[in-house]
Amino acid sequence: MRHFTSVYDIPDLKKALEVAADVKKNRFAYQHLGKNKTMVLIFFNSSLRTRLSTQKAAQNLGMNTMVLNVGEESWQMESELGVVMDGDKPEHLLEAIPVIGSYCDIIGVRAFAKFKSREDDYSEKILNQFIQYSGVPVVSMEGATRHPLQSFADLLTIEEYKTKERPKVVLTWAPHPKALPQAVPNSFVEWMRQTDYELVVTHPEGYELAPEFMGDVKVEYDQKKAFEGADFIYAKNWSSFKSYGQILSKDFGWTVNEEKMALTNEAKFMHCLPVRRNVIVTDGVIDSKNSIVIPEAANREITAQAVLKMILEEL
Ligand code: CP
Repeated sequence: MRHFTSVYDIPDLKKALEVAADVKKNRFAYQHLGKNKTMVLIFFNSSLRTRLSTQKAAQNLGMNTMVLNVGEESWQMESELGVVMDGDKPEHLLEAIPVIGSYCDIIGVRAFAKFKSREDDYSEKILNQFIQYSGVPVVSMEGATRHPLQSFADLLTIEEYKTKERPKVVLTWAPHPKALPQAVPNSFVEWMRQTDYELVVTHPEGYELAPEFMGDVKVEYDQKKAFEGADFIYAKNWSSFKSYGQILSKDFGWTVNEEKMALTNEAKFMHCLPVRRNVIVTDGVIDSKNSIVIPEAANREITAQAVLKMILEEL
């Protein structure tokens, strides 16, 4: 594997899950792979889990790591081509990316959707410039349209907690005060479609995800009906794809609560975090024995390590 930006970069998902299970048992067994190698982690947006888990994963593999928060610790960077740079951004990605690439062996990039233009966001302008100009493997630490490190951890967590071969997995929209990107739900659907799980997506009208991610996945607009018999509830807010970046609803009637969880098959509750308590999910649900948000987040280290191991093996 050269770059990691989506599930389609993984040649064999079953094998990748085996790699993850192996590194979970033998975290420090592959330090020779990263010896004298460096990973730079570039953040255009804030992070807790991705920053710490990916850094830890690289260090478990013997790599050196450097973290750069763009704007706060570096020059502001221009990403548009052909612009007259007489504004507040003194450095262009066209120089910054190859310079960063000259200092490292792998680059991790976090660059969220900007919501200025759907076309720009869905073309993954920043991530693709890193792939084009860095000269080294690039790992998406959440792009404008996907969060593959999160989805890989979500898949591993479901594999660990499932009690039947074909669990019913429900992705539910939940309210949020701010407009959030579609990266996590897009990616979650994309990864779940690679399994034979029963996948149901539920959201209010107007929150349909992009067709290229949804394929023929079932949408159930009645949230309670969707929850019936579910084995996993994956909650997430996202803004509208159709009315791009807009908040169409803040309806607390979509908050995941104990009453709705009672409709499920003792479902495990999942969320990528950070989560707004008593907006997305009630305290009662996230603090219940069926909440697996902490082991889900802990698996971020494991799946990041599996991804970096597969890249290092081909360097
Ligand atoms: N889930 C996730 O990516 O968390 P951070 O935004 O804190 O990295």
